[in-house]
Amino acid sequence: MSSFFEYSICKRAATAGLVEVVLHDLHDFSTKKHKQIDDYPFGGGAGMVIAIEPLTKCLDTLMAARTYDEVIFFSPDGIVLKQTIANQLSLCQNMIFICGHYKGIDERIREKYVTKEISIGDYVLSGGELAAAVTADAIIRLIPGAIGDESSALTDSFQDGLLAPPVYTRPASYMGMDVPAILLSGHDKKVEEWRHEQAVKRTMERRPDLLHD
Ligand code: ADE
Repeated sequence: MSSFFEYSICKRAATAGLVEVVLHDLHDFSTKKHKQIDDYPFGGGAGMVIAIEPLTKCLDTLMAARTYDEVIFFSPDGIVLKQTIANQLSLCQNMIFICGHYKGIDERIREKYVTKEISIGDYVLSGGELAAAVTADAIIRLIPGAIGDESSALTDSFQDGLLAPPVYTRPASYMGMDVPAILLSGHDKKVEEWRHEQAVKRTMERRPDLLHD
């Protein structure tokens, strides 16, 4: 988790002062002798549950220091992450991401603190860290200046509800494979129309569900 934030686009954005990511270890908020943060579920059953006490202590400490727009818990129960959600979250000033482990977190934390639950897909990960990293990446790259070419985040797949059109670069001809002539024409309006047509075609072929959303 920490290496993701040290080597990715997040690191670049952090170095440029565009974002600050602070990782908190729940063990630091445990009052137990061995810094334990999980316990057996009431009622029995397999797996351990992250206890209410260390999480409450951590969240209260953070919330005493600043105001948060969202407290997000990563879970397969959440709404599935989409570009529209990343767009909305990129406008937030401060957010807390809670990464569950084991069997989950005490439900009372969800009721009291959590404002949004996000899933990154219909599969179960061993913890919320990867989901948090995926979500952070999708958000941070939208912050102006975080990626080299600012306009390119706006032309991503999904930004207009369509997949992105195909792209090519030099050479224009390689081993008998040619770039579509329209892209070499210098005719900006026609290029734009072609890209839109290709985006619609690709979306119809690969993700027709997006056209009905
Ligand atoms: N934690 C475990 N599985 C997850 C998922 N699919 N999305 C978000 N958080 C998770």
